[in-house]
Amino acid sequence: MAKILVVGGAGYIGSHVVLELLDKGHIVTIYDNLSTGQEINLPQKAAFIKGDILDFESLTKAMEGADAVIHLAAKKAVGESMEKPDYYASNNIAGSVNILNAMLKTNVKHIVFSSSAAVYGMPRYLPIDEKHEKNPINFYGYTKSLIEDLMAWYADLKGINYIALRYFNAVGYDSAKRIKGKEKNPQNLLPIIMDAATSRRDGFLIFGSDYTTKDGTCERDYIHVSDLATAHEKAILKLMSDAQSYRLNLGTGKAVSVQEMVNAAEYVIGKKLDYKYAPRRAGDPAVLVANSELARQVLDWAPKYTDIKEIIETTWNMEK
Ligand code: UFG
Repeated sequence: MAKILVVGGAGYIGSHVVLELLDKGHIVTIYDNLSTGQEINLPQKAAFIKGDILDFESLTKAMEGADAVIHLAAKKAVGESMEKPDYYASNNIAGSVNILNAMLKTNVKHIVFSSSAAVYGMPRYLPIDEKHEKNPINFYGYTKSLIEDLMAWYADLKGINYIALRYFNAVGYDSAKRIKGKEKNPQNLLPIIMDAATSRRDGFLIFGSDYTTKDGTCERDYIHVSDLATAHEKAILKLMSDAQSYRLNLGTGKAVSVQEMVNAAEYVIGKKLDYKYAPRRAGDPAVLVANSELARQVLDWAPKYTDIKEIIETTWNMEK
Protein backbone atom coordinates (compact mmCIF):
# COMPACT_ATOMS: atom_id res chain seq x y z
CA MET A 1 0.00 0.00 0.00
CA ALA A 2 1.32 3.41 -0.95
CA LYS A 3 0.26 7.05 -0.72
CA ILE A 4 0.13 8.24 -4.30
CA LEU A 5 -0.38 11.68 -5.81
CA VAL A 6 -1.99 11.30 -9.22
CA VAL A 7 -1.40 14.48 -11.18
CA GLY A 8 -3.95 14.65 -13.98
CA GLY A 9 -6.07 12.01 -12.26
CA ALA A 10 -9.40 13.39 -13.51
CA GLY A 11 -8.57 12.86 -17.18
CA TYR A 12 -9.30 9.95 -19.50
CA ILE A 13 -6.32 7.76 -18.65
CA GLY A 14 -5.80 9.25 -15.17
CA SER A 15 -9.31 8.39 -14.00
CA HIS A 16 -8.77 4.75 -15.00
CA VAL A 17 -5.42 4.72 -13.20
CA VAL A 18 -7.11 6.07 -10.05
CA LEU A 19 -9.72 3.30 -10.14
CA GLU A 20 -6.99 0.67 -10.39
CA LEU A 21 -5.00 2.19 -7.51
CA LEU A 22 -8.08 2.29 -5.28
CA ASP A 23 -8.97 -1.29 -6.24
CA LYS A 24 -5.48 -2.34 -5.12
CA GLY A 25 -5.89 -0.57 -1.77
CA HIS A 26 -3.63 2.46 -2.25
CA ILE A 27 -4.32 5.88 -0.75
CA VAL A 28 -4.89 8.32 -3.59
CA THR A 29 -4.87 12.08 -3.90
CA ILE A 30 -5.81 13.53 -7.27
CA TYR A 31 -4.27 16.84 -8.36
CA ASP A 32 -5.93 18.24 -11.46
CA ASN A 33 -6.86 21.66 -12.83
CA LEU A 34 -9.97 20.21 -14.51
CA SER A 35 -9.02 21.82 -17.83
CA THR A 36 -9.81 18.59 -19.64
CA GLY A 37 -10.30 16.33 -16.63
CA GLN A 38 -13.78 16.13 -15.21
CA GLU A 39 -15.23 16.44 -11.73
CA ILE A 40 -17.61 13.58 -12.39
CA ASN A 41 -14.55 11.28 -12.68
CA LEU A 42 -13.44 11.92 -9.10
CA PRO A 43 -14.23 8.91 -6.93
CA GLN A 44 -15.40 9.42 -3.34
CA LYS A 45 -12.53 7.28 -2.05
CA ALA A 46 -9.83 9.59 -3.41
CA ALA A 47 -8.93 13.01 -2.05
CA PHE A 48 -9.02 15.84 -4.58
CA ILE A 49 -7.04 19.04 -4.84
CA LYS A 50 -7.91 21.41 -7.64
CA GLY A 51 -4.66 22.88 -8.83
CA ASP A 52 -2.38 23.54 -11.76
CA ILE A 53 1.06 22.02 -12.30
CA LEU A 54 2.28 25.53 -13.12
CA ASP A 55 1.43 26.58 -9.53
CA PHE A 56 4.56 25.39 -7.76
CA GLU A 57 3.42 26.27 -4.20
CA SER A 58 0.12 24.45 -4.48
CA LEU A 59 1.76 21.47 -6.18
CA THR A 60 4.44 21.18 -3.49
CA LYS A 61 1.83 21.33 -0.76
CA ALA A 62 -0.20 18.58 -2.43
CA MET A 63 2.89 16.39 -2.69
CA GLU A 64 3.85 16.47 0.98
CA GLY A 65 3.73 13.01 2.53
CA ALA A 66 3.31 11.11 -0.76
CA ASP A 67 5.35 7.95 -1.44
CA ALA A 68 5.14 8.36 -5.19
CA VAL A 69 3.77 10.51 -7.99
CA ILE A 70 1.99 9.45 -11.16
CA HIS A 71 2.22 12.26 -13.70
CA LEU A 72 -0.40 12.29 -16.44
CA ALA A 73 -1.03 16.03 -16.71
CA ALA A 74 -0.36 17.16 -20.26
CA LYS A 75 -1.73 18.69 -23.40
CA LYS A 76 -1.90 15.91 -25.97
CA ALA A 77 -3.31 17.05 -29.29
CA VAL A 78 -0.62 16.40 -31.89
CA GLY A 79 -1.95 18.92 -34.44
CA GLU A 80 -2.38 21.67 -31.84
CA SER A 81 1.18 21.10 -30.58
CA MET A 82 2.51 22.08 -34.02
CA GLU A 83 0.53 25.34 -33.96
CA LYS A 84 1.16 26.28 -30.33
CA PRO A 85 4.59 24.96 -29.31
CA ASP A 86 4.82 27.71 -26.67
CA TYR A 87 1.63 26.47 -25.02
CA TYR A 88 2.90 22.87 -25.07
CA ALA A 89 6.31 23.90 -23.78
CA SER A 90 4.73 25.72 -20.82
CA ASN A 91 2.24 23.05 -19.89
CA ASN A 92 4.10 19.86 -20.64
CA ILE A 93 7.74 20.83 -20.16
CA ALA A 94 7.64 23.60 -17.54
CA GLY A 95 4.83 21.75 -15.72
CA SER A 96 6.98 18.61 -15.52
CA VAL A 97 9.98 20.58 -14.29
CA ASN A 98 7.73 21.88 -11.49
CA ILE A 99 6.68 18.33 -10.62
CA LEU A 100 10.29 17.13 -10.44
CA ASN A 101 11.36 20.15 -8.37
CA ALA A 102 8.40 19.70 -6.02
CA MET A 103 9.54 16.07 -5.59
CA LEU A 104 12.99 17.29 -4.56
CA LYS A 105 11.48 19.74 -2.12
CA THR A 106 9.19 17.15 -0.50
CA ASN A 107 11.67 14.26 -0.78
CA VAL A 108 9.43 12.07 -2.94
CA LYS A 109 11.65 9.62 -4.83
CA HIS A 110 9.40 7.79 -7.29
CA ILE A 111 7.57 8.93 -10.40
CA VAL A 112 5.58 7.12 -13.06
CA PHE A 113 5.35 9.26 -16.18
CA SER A 114 2.83 9.15 -18.95
CA SER A 115 4.93 8.98 -22.12
CA SER A 116 3.98 8.06 -25.65
CA ALA A 117 4.86 6.09 -28.76
CA ALA A 118 5.08 9.56 -30.29
CA VAL A 119 8.68 9.74 -28.97
CA TYR A 120 9.77 7.34 -31.75
CA GLY A 121 8.53 9.27 -34.78
CA MET A 122 8.59 7.30 -38.03
CA PRO A 123 9.42 3.67 -37.19
CA ARG A 124 12.66 2.29 -38.64
CA TYR A 125 11.65 -1.28 -37.82
CA LEU A 126 8.63 -3.11 -36.41
CA PRO A 127 7.53 -3.98 -33.84
CA ILE A 128 9.15 -1.05 -32.06
CA ASP A 129 11.11 -1.91 -28.94
CA GLU A 130 12.71 0.52 -26.48
CA LYS A 131 16.08 0.32 -28.26
CA HIS A 132 14.53 2.07 -31.25
CA GLU A 133 15.94 5.58 -31.51
CA LYS A 134 13.80 8.47 -30.38
CA ASN A 135 13.06 10.88 -33.20
CA PRO A 136 9.75 12.65 -32.59
CA ILE A 137 8.19 14.31 -35.63
CA ASN A 138 5.71 16.48 -33.76
CA PHE A 139 6.13 18.90 -30.87
CA TYR A 140 3.88 16.87 -28.57
CA GLY A 141 6.15 13.84 -28.99
CA TYR A 142 9.18 16.06 -28.47
CA THR A 143 7.83 17.25 -25.08
CA LYS A 144 7.39 13.63 -23.97
CA SER A 145 10.88 12.69 -25.14
CA LEU A 146 12.48 15.68 -23.46
CA ILE A 147 10.71 15.02 -20.14
CA GLU A 148 11.96 11.41 -20.20
CA ASP A 149 15.53 12.70 -20.60
CA LEU A 150 15.01 15.28 -17.88
CA MET A 151 13.89 12.52 -15.50
CA ALA A 152 17.04 10.56 -16.35
CA TRP A 153 19.16 13.54 -15.25
CA TYR A 154 17.17 13.90 -12.03
CA ALA A 155 17.64 10.17 -11.49
CA ASP A 156 21.42 10.44 -11.90
CA LEU A 157 21.90 13.68 -10.02
CA LYS A 158 19.20 13.53 -7.37
CA GLY A 159 18.27 9.88 -6.87
CA ILE A 160 14.75 10.13 -8.23
CA ASN A 161 13.57 6.89 -9.87
CA TYR A 162 11.21 6.97 -12.78
CA ILE A 163 9.26 4.67 -15.02
CA ALA A 164 8.19 6.26 -18.29
CA LEU A 165 5.29 4.35 -19.83
CA ARG A 166 5.14 4.79 -23.58
CA TYR A 167 1.52 4.26 -24.50
CA PHE A 168 0.56 3.19 -27.98
CA ASN A 169 -3.06 3.97 -28.99
CA ALA A 170 -5.20 4.16 -25.85
CA VAL A 171 -8.84 3.14 -26.32
CA GLY A 172 -11.84 1.82 -24.38
CA TYR A 173 -13.48 2.58 -21.03
CA ASP A 174 -13.79 0.83 -17.68
CA SER A 175 -15.90 -2.30 -18.33
CA ALA A 176 -17.75 -1.83 -15.01
CA LYS A 177 -18.89 1.59 -16.30
CA ARG A 178 -17.53 3.44 -13.29
CA ILE A 179 -16.18 6.29 -15.43
CA LYS A 180 -19.00 8.71 -16.16
CA GLY A 181 -17.17 11.56 -17.84
CA LYS A 182 -16.52 10.92 -21.51
CA GLU A 183 -13.39 12.59 -22.85
CA LYS A 184 -14.25 16.02 -24.24
CA ASN A 185 -13.55 16.69 -27.90
CA PRO A 186 -11.06 13.87 -28.55
CA GLN A 187 -9.55 13.84 -32.02
CA ASN A 188 -8.79 10.13 -32.25
CA LEU A 189 -10.24 7.46 -34.50
CA LEU A 190 -12.51 5.52 -32.13
CA PRO A 191 -14.15 8.56 -30.47
CA ILE A 192 -14.74 10.00 -33.95
CA ILE A 193 -16.37 6.73 -35.03
CA MET A 194 -18.55 6.90 -31.89
CA ASP A 195 -19.57 10.47 -32.65
CA ALA A 196 -20.60 9.39 -36.14
CA ALA A 197 -22.49 6.36 -34.78
CA THR A 198 -24.49 8.58 -32.42
CA SER A 199 -25.14 11.32 -35.00
CA ARG A 200 -23.05 13.87 -33.19
CA ARG A 201 -21.26 14.27 -36.49
CA ASP A 202 -22.05 13.49 -40.10
CA GLY A 203 -19.84 10.56 -40.94
CA PHE A 204 -16.06 10.49 -40.89
CA LEU A 205 -13.03 10.04 -43.14
CA ILE A 206 -10.53 7.24 -43.41
CA PHE A 207 -7.21 8.96 -44.01
CA GLY A 208 -5.38 6.97 -46.68
CA SER A 209 -6.28 3.70 -48.38
CA ASP A 210 -3.10 3.30 -50.43
CA TYR A 211 -0.61 2.30 -47.73
CA THR A 212 1.32 -0.94 -48.16
CA THR A 213 -0.57 -2.58 -45.31
CA LYS A 214 -2.95 -5.52 -45.15
CA ASP A 215 -5.89 -3.53 -46.55
CA GLY A 216 -4.31 -0.21 -47.57
CA THR A 217 -5.28 1.65 -44.38
CA CYS A 218 -2.96 2.51 -41.47
CA GLU A 219 -2.32 -0.05 -38.76
CA ARG A 220 -2.04 0.79 -35.06
CA ASP A 221 -1.61 -1.00 -31.76
CA TYR A 222 -4.78 -0.29 -29.75
CA ILE A 223 -4.39 -0.87 -26.05
CA HIS A 224 -7.27 -0.82 -23.57
CA VAL A 225 -7.07 2.01 -21.05
CA SER A 226 -7.68 -0.40 -18.14
CA ASP A 227 -4.63 -2.38 -19.25
CA LEU A 228 -2.64 0.85 -19.22
CA ALA A 229 -3.98 1.44 -15.71
CA THR A 230 -2.77 -1.92 -14.34
CA ALA A 231 0.72 -1.15 -15.68
CA HIS A 232 0.82 2.09 -13.66
CA GLU A 233 0.00 0.29 -10.43
CA LYS A 234 2.64 -2.33 -11.14
CA ALA A 235 5.14 0.41 -12.00
CA ILE A 236 4.58 2.00 -8.57
CA LEU A 237 5.27 -1.32 -6.84
CA LYS A 238 8.37 -1.82 -8.98
CA LEU A 239 9.77 1.64 -8.19
CA MET A 240 9.23 1.12 -4.49
CA SER A 241 10.94 -2.29 -4.49
CA ASP A 242 14.02 -1.53 -6.60
CA ALA A 243 15.86 1.70 -7.22
CA GLN A 244 16.03 1.50 -11.00
CA SER A 245 14.46 3.52 -13.76
CA TYR A 246 12.86 2.25 -16.96
CA ARG A 247 11.24 3.35 -20.19
CA LEU A 248 8.62 0.83 -21.22
CA ASN A 249 6.36 0.40 -24.24
CA LEU A 250 2.74 -0.43 -23.52
CA GLY A 251 0.90 -2.05 -26.39
CA THR A 252 -0.66 -5.37 -27.31
CA GLY A 253 1.76 -6.18 -30.14
CA LYS A 254 -1.19 -6.61 -32.47
CA ALA A 255 -1.63 -4.36 -35.52
CA VAL A 256 -5.22 -3.41 -36.29
CA SER A 257 -6.01 -1.43 -39.43
CA VAL A 258 -8.33 1.59 -39.58
CA GLN A 259 -10.62 -0.46 -41.82
CA GLU A 260 -10.65 -3.30 -39.30
CA MET A 261 -11.53 -0.83 -36.54
CA VAL A 262 -14.39 0.54 -38.61
CA ASN A 263 -15.68 -2.94 -39.50
CA ALA A 264 -15.44 -4.08 -35.88
CA ALA A 265 -17.26 -0.94 -34.72
CA GLU A 266 -20.06 -1.58 -37.22
CA TYR A 267 -20.35 -5.12 -35.88
CA VAL A 268 -20.47 -4.02 -32.22
CA ILE A 269 -22.87 -1.14 -32.85
CA GLY A 270 -25.01 -3.22 -35.19
CA LYS A 271 -25.30 -0.73 -38.02
CA LYS A 272 -23.48 0.57 -41.08
CA LEU A 273 -21.50 3.74 -40.57
CA ASP A 274 -21.21 6.64 -42.95
CA TYR A 275 -17.59 7.13 -44.03
CA LYS A 276 -15.46 8.08 -47.01
CA TYR A 277 -11.88 7.47 -48.08
CA ALA A 278 -9.71 10.57 -48.04
CA PRO A 279 -6.05 11.34 -48.78
CA ARG A 280 -3.37 10.40 -46.25
CA ARG A 281 -3.05 12.58 -43.14
CA ALA A 282 0.35 14.29 -42.85
CA GLY A 283 2.74 12.68 -40.39
CA ASP A 284 0.96 9.32 -40.13
CA PRO A 285 3.25 6.28 -40.19
CA ALA A 286 1.74 3.36 -42.12
CA VAL A 287 2.16 0.96 -39.21
CA LEU A 288 2.88 1.49 -35.53
CA VAL A 289 3.07 -1.57 -33.35
CA ALA A 290 4.76 -2.17 -30.02
CA ASN A 291 7.12 -4.77 -28.74
CA SER A 292 6.16 -4.70 -25.04
CA GLU A 293 8.35 -7.61 -23.91
CA LEU A 294 10.30 -5.37 -21.55
CA ALA A 295 7.13 -4.20 -19.75
CA ARG A 296 5.98 -7.81 -19.53
CA GLN A 297 9.27 -8.79 -17.89
CA VAL A 298 9.94 -5.78 -15.68
CA LEU A 299 6.38 -5.27 -14.46
CA ASP A 300 5.07 -8.81 -14.82
CA TRP A 301 2.30 -7.19 -16.84
CA ALA A 302 0.19 -8.36 -19.74
CA PRO A 303 -2.80 -6.75 -21.43
CA LYS A 304 -6.08 -8.54 -20.67
CA TYR A 305 -7.92 -7.12 -23.66
CA THR A 306 -6.68 -8.48 -26.97
CA ASP A 307 -9.90 -8.65 -28.96
CA ILE A 308 -10.66 -5.35 -30.66
CA LYS A 309 -14.43 -6.00 -30.66
CA GLU A 310 -14.39 -6.44 -26.91
CA ILE A 311 -12.40 -3.21 -26.54
CA ILE A 312 -14.82 -1.30 -28.77
CA GLU A 313 -17.73 -2.71 -26.78
CA THR A 314 -16.45 -1.03 -23.59
CA THR A 315 -16.51 2.28 -25.47
CA TRP A 316 -19.93 1.64 -26.97
CA ASN A 317 -21.35 0.74 -23.52
CA MET A 318 -20.12 4.09 -22.30
CA GLU A 319 -21.89 5.82 -25.22
CA LYS A 320 -25.14 4.07 -24.39
N1 UFG B 1 -7.85 8.18 -38.56
C1 UFG B 1 -8.75 8.23 -39.61
N2 UFG B 1 -9.80 9.09 -39.51
C2 UFG B 1 -9.99 9.90 -38.44
C3 UFG B 1 -9.06 9.84 -37.38
C4 UFG B 1 -8.00 8.97 -37.47
O1 UFG B 1 -8.61 7.52 -40.61
O2 UFG B 1 -10.96 10.68 -38.44
C5 UFG B 1 -6.71 7.24 -38.66
C6 UFG B 1 -5.38 7.96 -38.60
O3 UFG B 1 -4.99 8.40 -39.87
C7 UFG B 1 -4.49 6.84 -38.05
C8 UFG B 1 -5.44 6.04 -37.14
O4 UFG B 1 -6.75 6.40 -37.55
O5 UFG B 1 -4.06 6.03 -39.08
C9 UFG B 1 -5.28 6.38 -35.67
O6 UFG B 1 -5.34 7.78 -35.52
P1 UFG B 1 -5.47 8.52 -34.12
O7 UFG B 1 -5.56 9.97 -34.41
O8 UFG B 1 -6.58 7.91 -33.33
O9 UFG B 1 -4.14 8.14 -33.36
P2 UFG B 1 -2.62 8.33 -33.80
O10 UFG B 1 -2.09 6.97 -34.10
O11 UFG B 1 -2.45 9.36 -34.83
O12 UFG B 1 -1.99 8.93 -32.46
C10 UFG B 1 -2.32 8.44 -31.18
C11 UFG B 1 -2.32 9.58 -30.17
C12 UFG B 1 -0.96 10.15 -30.02
C13 UFG B 1 0.02 9.08 -29.70
C14 UFG B 1 -0.05 7.95 -30.67
C15 UFG B 1 0.81 6.84 -30.21
O13 UFG B 1 -3.23 10.57 -30.58
O14 UFG B 1 -0.94 11.08 -28.99
O15 UFG B 1 -1.39 7.48 -30.78
O16 UFG B 1 0.68 5.71 -30.97
F1 UFG B 1 1.28 9.57 -29.70
